Amino acid sequence: MSIERGSADNSVHLNTMQRSSLNLEVSCPHSLLEVEMVNIAVVGLGWWGKIMVNTLAGSSSVRVVAAVEPNAELGAPLCKEGGIRHYAQLSDALQDPEVEAVILTTPNRFHEEQIVEAAQAGKHVLCEKPLALGLASAERAVEACLRSGVRLGIGHERRFEPPMKMVRQLVADGALGQVLQIEGNFSQNKFLALAPDNWRLSVQEAGCGPMTATGIHLLDLAGSIAGAARAVRATAYNLATGFESGDSASAHVVFDNGVTATINAMLSTPFYSRFAVFGSRGWIEVRDKSHVESPSGWIVTRSTTGDETETIDIPVATPVRENVEAFARAVRGKQSDYPVSLQEMLNTTSLLESVFEAARTGSLVVPRKSDVLARVRT
Ligand SMILES: NC(=O)c1ccc[n+]([C@@H]2O[C@H](COP(=O)([O-])OP(=O)(O)OC[C@H]3O[C@@H](n4cnc5c(N)ncnc54)[C@H](O)[C@@H]3O)[C@@H](O)[C@H]2O)c1
Repeated sequence: MSIERGSADNSVHLNTMQRSSLNLEVSCPHSLLEVEMVNIAVVGLGWWGKIMVNTLAGSSSVRVVAAVEPNAELGAPLCKEGGIRHYAQLSDALQDPEVEAVILTTPNRFHEEQIVEAAQAGKHVLCEKPLALGLASAERAVEACLRSGVRLGIGHERRFEPPMKMVRQLVADGALGQVLQIEGNFSQNKFLALAPDNWRLSVQEAGCGPMTATGIHLLDLAGSIAGAARAVRATAYNLATGFESGDSASAHVVFDNGVTATINAMLSTPFYSRFAVFGSRGWIEVRDKSHVESPSGWIVTRSTTGDETETIDIPVATPVRENVEAFARAVRGKQSDYPVSLQEMLNTTSLLESVFEAARTGSLVVPRKSDVLARVRT
């Protein structure tokens, strides 16, 4: 098979037909043009809230009509500039009849309560990760959404990255054989610029710091491939900074089916992100060229028993927007239209909680399995 080499970086590109023949093609998102726009309020206009508003500006299925930001100096000018209504608190936005759904880009400690408040007001919720800081909180939030009949989405946009869809498709098709092990690392050093008392560095709000900030995306991806976990060991050390919640975290997860995942995350090294799945017939590795806040594409390497190892460039995509648009489809349809199931959201929260405990105690922790869906639905 012939391959094209990129002139600038000498990386290998496969054309569309070549990718198809490798069964690596990415499925196209459904068109939403025929569906009525979902009117949204973004709650919290800090780092991620601003990115969210900007990212959604070109969407054909969601429209940001309002934002909640208690810091008026921040919120008022941003909302004026964006031509959207500004509210100082969530309860005000929840009374706005035009607002159908909220996106919570608030500090982690508010997520549980804000999901419940929004659900009880009849508004659909997409909550940024982590859904909650413990399984009991996540269960309360999920239960509130189910009882109010509103949809729940989660900020695990890495599920919507084209190479991650490709990895999961290859696994589903059996192209990698029996999955054996998963390895991932998602690290960055942005938090070095934060004040020492910032919530992102605190043990209460960001336990096992690097895992809550970035590693959680990989815990979620690993769970999307391997299912629920049965045991976890983890460490969180502070080696290079004064971060209360640690700057170097590592987790070793054993899933119910015997697949294992090693997930590493650091907050004191430049951006690095890698996710790899190894199977009995081959492996695939995804490397991100840059952070999702300004994505620039991916490098994917795949090796199949008996074939040459191949590397392809995947062009830039908009996973943050795709996630919200998938949520919008669920708002117009049903919860099961959203590709991250409620059970998976609960599993990831349980896994994160277990990582906290394993890192704190140094012991092997068995993640609790939630029965909230069975309880509420019967
Ligand atoms: N999916 C991702 O890749 C990703 C990336 C970054 C952050 N996040 C998540 O987004 C959330 C916010 O993170 P951030 O880095 O933007 O934080 P941030 O501190 O920069 O911003 C939070 C904003 O929320 C506002 N706020 C505080 N209390 C509020 C309240 N009660 N109601 C409404 N607004 C309130 C703050 O004034 C601030 O402007 C976190 O849960 C974080 O984990 C997700």
